Amino acid sequence: MDWILYNGDLIKEDELKLSREDRAYQFGDGIYEVIRIYGGDFFTAEEHIDRFYESAEKIRMVFPYTKDVFHKMLHELVERNEVTDGQVYVQVSRGASMRQHHFPELAEPVLVASTKPLSRPVEWMKAGVKAKLIEDVRWLRCDIKSLNLLGNVLAKQEAHEAGCFEAILHRGDVVTEGSSSNMFGIKGGILYTHPATNLILNGITRRVIMQICKDLDIELQETAFTVDQALAMDEFFMCSTTAEILPVIQIDDTVIGNGKPGKVTNRLIEAFEARIGVSVNA
Ligand code: PDD
Repeated sequence: MDWILYNGDLIKEDELKLSREDRAYQFGDGIYEVIRIYGGDFFTAEEHIDRFYESAEKIRMVFPYTKDVFHKMLHELVERNEVTDGQVYVQVSRGASMRQHHFPELAEPVLVASTKPLSRPVEWMKAGVKAKLIEDVRWLRCDIKSLNLLGNVLAKQEAHEAGCFEAILHRGDVVTEGSSSNMFGIKGGILYTHPATNLILNGITRRVIMQICKDLDIELQETAFTVDQALAMDEFFMCSTTAEILPVIQIDDTVIGNGKPGKVTNRLIEAFEARIGVSVNA
């Protein structure tokens, strides 16, 4: 049985007891992160930890550990569970207290982290995935990695029911991001993606891709694009911690490019793999 990190202690999974009055359960009042593990090591842990603290601050939650202590605790959890390739899921809620909407005075944050093995979606990287356009009806603080994911969940389910891997969200005409990923379009060799505003989560994978573009001298513009522009892209891809970079080869009924993962996308996948130290063909 796996170990769980619970408020600074490693405990066995069946020892975990959470209150029915936990605000994560009743309000989604908390934040989370998903961190990837390759070859037993975290990938971009500092970036995820920094974003975790930023999210906590944005919802006015005081997280009681220093970044170093928090990092160490997560590391110990990964070691204890002997995860080689997988992920850590970590969340913190504002705590347990009699149900009332405003912040409880006495509640202490409740931290829970767990691991799971996860292989890389290599087949989808090679074949590409389909995506469905769905109106983005979420709130206006999508920059916070909040536990409130109902808007994302409903969009993903609609895409799933349509036989698609991901939902491409758009506010009116403007494409924002995926239900659990960021979106990039490529036209004339230039990458376009929504700027890191309150309307999207500033993905860590997104940031790695931006760095890769700098290193490889590929032009990238943080400029939002419309649904029509999305459908007319030469290449399109989604990215996230768990999905890495996945070519999007069809959006609704429109085939993107020649319906196969594009050249620039494949180049980015290769460069991403060099950073994590594996290969799609390994
Ligand atoms: N999702 N946008 C949204 C709405 C997301 O939920 C995610 C990640 C991303 C990509 O962020 P990153 O590259 O830092 O993973 C963008 C995670 C993986 C999840 O909820 O499981």
